[in-house]
Amino acid sequence: MAFFSDKVIYQVYVKSFKDSDGDGIGDLNGVREKLPYLKELGVDMLWLNPVYPSPQKDNGYDISNYKAIDPLFGTMEEFESLIEEAEDMGMGIMMDMVLNHTSIEHPWFQRALSGEKKYEEFYIIREPKEDGSLPTNWPSKFGGPAWAPFGHTGKYYLHLYDVTQADLNWRNPEVRKELYEVVNFWIAKGVKGFRFDVINVIGKDDTLVDAEDGIGKYLYTDRPIAHEYIQEMNKQTFGRQTDAITVGEMSSTTIGDGVQYSNPENNELSMIFSFHHLKVDYENGNKWTRYPFDYMKLKQLLDEWQKGMEEGNGWNALFWNNHDQPRASNRFGNIDRYPFETATMLAQTIHLMRGTPFIYQGEEIGMVNPSFDSIDDYKDIETINAYKTLMAKGSSSEEALKIIQEKSRDNSRIPMQWTAGEQAGFTSGNPWLKVDASHKKINAQTSELSKEIREYYKRLIHLRKELPVISEGTYEGIEMEHPSIYAYVRKWKNQELLVLNHFYEGEPAIVIPERFLNQRVKWLIGNRNERPLQRTFIMAPYETVALLRE
Ligand code: GLC
Repeated sequence: MAFFSDKVIYQVYVKSFKDSDGDGIGDLNGVREKLPYLKELGVDMLWLNPVYPSPQKDNGYDISNYKAIDPLFGTMEEFESLIEEAEDMGMGIMMDMVLNHTSIEHPWFQRALSGEKKYEEFYIIREPKEDGSLPTNWPSKFGGPAWAPFGHTGKYYLHLYDVTQADLNWRNPEVRKELYEVVNFWIAKGVKGFRFDVINVIGKDDTLVDAEDGIGKYLYTDRPIAHEYIQEMNKQTFGRQTDAITVGEMSSTTIGDGVQYSNPENNELSMIFSFHHLKVDYENGNKWTRYPFDYMKLKQLLDEWQKGMEEGNGWNALFWNNHDQPRASNRFGNIDRYPFETATMLAQTIHLMRGTPFIYQGEEIGMVNPSFDSIDDYKDIETINAYKTLMAKGSSSEEALKIIQEKSRDNSRIPMQWTAGEQAGFTSGNPWLKVDASHKKINAQTSELSKEIREYYKRLIHLRKELPVISEGTYEGIEMEHPSIYAYVRKWKNQELLVLNHFYEGEPAIVIPERFLNQRVKWLIGNRNERPLQRTFIMAPYETVALLRE
């Protein structure tokens, strides 16, 4: 089994984690200050969202220098101290590698613009079609077309994301060499893990053609060449370390590709993030809609990915939240009546699965979406573009705002709620993104609710380290037709774990398999009171329970 199977990773959105110097923006010294908090939680590695120099059009995912720290976040010396101090507490640092694109302010792009042929070949630049229209019909993932004018040359550059994020030309060996050097630069600093941003879209064809479906994901996602590039990168960078943990962010991927990316025999990555389970509240695949989540589909997706990755010896990153997702508690639970049960049930559902759990900052204290009531409170570029598109398509401003309130990425990017006091204890200045009023009730310092949720997370993290059935066991979904309970069994040698997760209010019954109904079965962990087990077990609203049989 992989050395990382009992590890848990915590995601730090540095910009919103802790501000140490009062400029309203979280920074590296803020992370250093909170290391004891993270240590106490019991996590093994901290994934930092990008802290490189960047114009911040997409909050650091638009990088203008890969080998430095943005003064906004601190200095290289502070970064080095962070690595050392974290290491002393037994935690590694995972860096976010955004290698599909650079900011258009990156010197490579600037030199390309000023006519240096060598750098023009660093990007994907094409002539318009003969009729003068764009090189292909592909849309950008952030709205509008995926092509923008390349200076005054009459040509266009490709940007699958924002217009300020130009896609790199991975077909050019010089580009790959430069990028591998970037990875090695951070390895030399002592970085122990890498999260590769949208790494499955790096392989574009030489000749780009119109998309038959008008979207074109199939033309650049999971291409066989992407696997080849990742293998090459592995060999030339982190593959030389024995203890590196790598995770690829995979946009619209398949289980088959997920297996290829993460099966150790392929020498690609340790694990992958896939997102299908977080699209179950999109109407017809469209994120910018308000739509009740499809529970049966959620269960089915979680189950398929667990089974499929296990069969192919791949490895899942397990997560509900990150900096691109609204809070899962708002989406899949009831935060008004059952905040504790919602948070702990969702956590337990994935923490006891096969894979590596990721905790997004604030999740462990039960943070929720903010109640912003004006579009001006939102800063995220994708959100602002979506708002404009919704309005252009005829939505009223109220309706558009309601959608934004549910779906915006800023939902998870609001400042971490440390205290019930001024600015939630995040900053002594003016926060870059508004602090939400919920910090009065939900915060790391004084809230009893937050404390209880955090204690529960600690137990889940600890159990993974203690029990091989959690870190290494096989997975099997049971009662897949049950309309409100998601149940599964993990097995390892003579250990067997039954996990029951109830996603709704009400008190449904579930049939407990016979072998879990005897003296040798232990009520391992649950978010409600322990009680005698019967064949027909009645679950409370948002209850979760795990039974261990040894
Ligand atoms: C990933 C990041 C997201 C970013 C995008 C483009 O999806 O998680 O925040 O906007 O890539 O880099």
